[in-house]
Amino acid sequence: MPGSFVSPRIAELVGAVGGVMPDSDEDSVDVGAAEVCRVAGILEGFLRYPDLLTGGQMEADLRAYRQHALYTAPAGGFSVVALVRLPGQRTPIHDHVSWCVVGTYIGAEEETRYRLDSAYGQTTPVLAPLDIATIPAGTVTYLVPPGDIHHVRNATSGKVISIHVYGADISVLGTSIRRRYDLPVRP
Ligand SMILES: [Fe+2]
Repeated sequence: MPGSFVSPRIAELVGAVGGVMPDSDEDSVDVGAAEVCRVAGILEGFLRYPDLLTGGQMEADLRAYRQHALYTAPAGGFSVVALVRLPGQRTPIHDHVSWCVVGTYIGAEEETRYRLDSAYGQTTPVLAPLDIATIPAGTVTYLVPPGDIHHVRNATSGKVISIHVYGADISVLGTSIRRRYDLPVRP
């Protein structure tokens, strides 16, 4: 990604991810849950390193959670970002344009997953919460669309930082979010 600093540790991480994932749609690798799970295992192994991010890449924003772009593969096949959340900061309810692997680096994330329920309430779709999970530092989770509607928040009293690997070119898209779901949530 132009202008961003790639730490030696992030370079090591993306080298390992590149051994599993294609760098472009033209590469002849079928990406499925098995490959995404392998990337999750790789990322999990890097979460223990204190030199994964620079000080600047761990900086927050008082106004909203902050994304630091860390790396995009040359042909845009996958990207790595760090997300920094202060207490109370959260994403909208959303889904993603691609597979996504998330590892908590510092603190603990809280993720709520939803199912879109078109039948409930007849005309207006609603969101039905499926589960709420706490993802503590050093652990990973992953999503493979479709059916990946969720939101994430910092439910702790300290800063939370997570590392995300997406199967998309974030340097072009700016975000991996496909759609926001501003819909009623069924209690
Ligand atoms: Fe997400």
